Amino acid sequence: MNKKKSSILIAGGGSTYTPSLVIMLLEGQERFPVRKIKFYDNDAERQAVLAEACQIIIAERAPEIEFEYSTDPAAAFSDVDIVMAQLRVGKYAMREQDEKIPFKHNVVGQETCGPGGLAYGLRSIGPVLELVDYMEKYSPEAWLLNYSNPAAVVAEATRRFRPNSKIINICDMPVCLEDIMARVIGLKDRKDFETSYFGLNHFGWWTSIKDHDGNDLMPSISAHVREYGYTEQTQKGQHKETSWLETMWAAKELHEIEPEYLPNTYLKYYLMADSTVAHANKDYTRANEIIDGREKYVFDECRRIIANSTAEDTSFASNEHASFITDLACALTFNTKERMILIVENNGAIANFAPDAMVELPCLVGKDGYEVLSIGEIPTFQKGLMEQQIASEKLAVDAWEQGSYQKLWQSFTMNKTVPSAKVAKAILDDMIEVNAPYWPTLS
Ligand code: NAD
Ligand code: G6P
Ligand code: MN
Repeated sequence: MNKKKSSILIAGGGSTYTPSLVIMLLEGQERFPVRKIKFYDNDAERQAVLAEACQIIIAERAPEIEFEYSTDPAAAFSDVDIVMAQLRVGKYAMREQDEKIPFKHNVVGQETCGPGGLAYGLRSIGPVLELVDYMEKYSPEAWLLNYSNPAAVVAEATRRFRPNSKIINICDMPVCLEDIMARVIGLKDRKDFETSYFGLNHFGWWTSIKDHDGNDLMPSISAHVREYGYTEQTQKGQHKETSWLETMWAAKELHEIEPEYLPNTYLKYYLMADSTVAHANKDYTRANEIIDGREKYVFDECRRIIANSTAEDTSFASNEHASFITDLACALTFNTKERMILIVENNGAIANFAPDAMVELPCLVGKDGYEVLSIGEIPTFQKGLMEQQIASEKLAVDAWEQGSYQKLWQSFTMNKTVPSAKVAKAILDDMIEVNAPYWPTLS
């Protein structure tokens, strides 16, 4: 029997992750055949640069695949099986604000953590819900796989406002770290073992890592992390720049705080907030590094491909981000029952945690969606931290829903990165000004 061929829409076609995703789809044709690739973005000019380059890549490598791009929702969302979403609402200019405003108040300034992440959340909720609605209108059978950050806040919003929609919120950090863990003990990649993990998005811990014969790999990975964090002799994968290396090192200290489990790197912003702020260059943040680095590289490379009318010598390559979302699309389409870490409603899977919390847990994915694996009770330390963080995230969604200044102030105050209600208010007042085009009016 011929395998089903899917039509894929990349929403946020102008994303820096788009070329690697397209290349992954082209390389994965045997496993996950594709008949059509479409792009959608609300910035026509930005998307066109990537689209024209990707059109050349597709024509050279898989001319049988149809390609279209549009800023019109009806054109973009029609005849689609899977939407892969990667919006950055406010683009890098607003990421810079999310990072620099908290730093001005000596608080962690980060894309998805602390006040910056919450501010980004209030920008992302509306546009991601809009994607869900376009998909349901024009391709009601499709699935939306969402990377758009902050995934934790977006997931709470989709749980609350689109409870019956076919959306799965995901993060690539666990798979990127699992690939590192595999390499540091001499394995090829994450597919060489099976893991157990619990937490929230950008806020979790591995509790077990076993090879396919059931041998416990935690002791050897843990020994590496105790000495080197998640650094490798030669750092590979998506997170190899200098600023990421510092984060990979920080896992060493995070592991000392909880030696039983292996940490997600993002815990650094909550458990090591003071040293993060102390060591940060507050005038040149990660957004600046990317504007001058990844964003410039991707757009320069696209322009070069367009000018040469060929991509035969391109340095674009697939990465973990692209492979994970393609694995997920494949599992949904072909009912593979692959075990994957997703952001899902708890519903008792963590026995002693709120049922309506969006948590990050291993799931089995098949054609009807995912089945969350129960992990039982979690310890007091993690439970306490997670309860504070989930409250902060839920208050941010309350603030968006109700247009409530008070709720957002409480959300910032609740966040472990923020030292006091007074500082929370000062950051919030600065943020309201710059976020005016994106946030609901707060009163
Ligand atoms: P980017 O700015 O390069 O691309 C985002 C694109 O979204 C832009 O082209 C922009 O025009 C478009 N966009 C913004 N608002 C839109 C709207 N309302 N409708 C349609 N398009 C819109 O950003 P990037 O660095 O490539 O990252 C893309 C997203 O993926 C970000 O949210 C990032 O945080 C996220 N991401 C998530 C994970 C994860 O683990 N969940 C991993 C990597 C990246
Ligand atoms: C990881 C996280 C993403 C985040 C990204 C930021 O991959 O899982 O959620 O967006 O890092 O990386 P950057 O290189 O943009 O700082
Ligand atoms: Mn993530």
